[in-house]
Amino acid sequence: MPRTRLDPHTVKSDQRATWDAISPGWEASLAVFERGAARVTDRLLELGGVRPGQRVLDVATGLGEPALTAARAVGPRGRVVGVDISPGMLEVAARRARGLGNIEFEVGDLEAIDRQTGSFDVVLSRWGLMFALDRVRALRTIAGLLAPGGVLAAAVWGPPRSAPMMSFGYAVLGKMIDLEPPPPGTPGPFTMSEPEGVAEELRAAGLGEVSVEEEVVPFRLRTGAEYAEFTRSVAPPALLRRVRDRFGSEDAPAVWRAVAEAVEDSYADGDGVLLPSTALCLRAVAPAG
Ligand SMILES: C[S@@+](CC[C@H](N)C(=O)[O-])C[C@H]1O[C@@H](n2cnc3c(N)ncnc32)[C@H](O)[C@@H]1O
Repeated sequence: MPRTRLDPHTVKSDQRATWDAISPGWEASLAVFERGAARVTDRLLELGGVRPGQRVLDVATGLGEPALTAARAVGPRGRVVGVDISPGMLEVAARRARGLGNIEFEVGDLEAIDRQTGSFDVVLSRWGLMFALDRVRALRTIAGLLAPGGVLAAAVWGPPRSAPMMSFGYAVLGKMIDLEPPPPGTPGPFTMSEPEGVAEELRAAGLGEVSVEEEVVPFRLRTGAEYAEFTRSVAPPALLRRVRDRFGSEDAPAVWRAVAEAVEDSYADGDGVLLPSTALCLRAVAPAG
């Protein structure tokens, strides 16, 4: 299939608009998501070796993780910067950071972070790097922001079938509405789901001591309805438009009931719904200088 040439300006403005639109939904679902996601934050801080006094950058920080956890770990002598393309997400992050004096957030594209070369000891990113258009270039830029010997520790999603928390609801919806696949090359949550490919991209960006490990995150939902609500609240506007066109409303009860029932059929375990979802946790080190 011929590769469509994507216009970077359009891609970035779509990303900004999409994430701004769903930032209230992500905030509403924060507690449900963090029930599982917090363990990935903890692993990233371990992999990064985050400790008091360090300078840490969080790329695509969204509502502020892992930046907020890192700010507590680096303490008053350390500093944390969280960058994200969506002002809406960052507005929530800044609210959550009230009372922490060592953290700042700024709007920016992960492919063009405007900070001094070598100015961070650790770069973290939880479920953000996949949104780069040119991943190797983005990783090279990030590598340049690390001090010699500095560490990148980041999480991305494994393949869709291994990460039902993020894919199952949309797979159910996909059977009910006509979802066109995005043009080839469009950044999205599953564009870094192959460990070998991820390791190659990290090396191509000039990073060394590369490792990629799987972390299975046990996302726990109380009921199928809670999962359907999560899926609805973080669904991109384009998908919700399709639901509305086909069923008359974005909130058509039959649609979200179908998601709730399907997830219960596949993942109910007596205590609710359990969706073990694979994150790839990667670590790589900047050259010693
Ligand atoms: C799945 S969220 C992850 C947020 C947070 N790190 C977490 O784990 O909860 C992805 C984030 O990537 C951000 N994002 C998407 N494209 C981006 C880009 N080109 N540059 C910077 N941030 C971007 C979105 O705004 C969103 O906040």
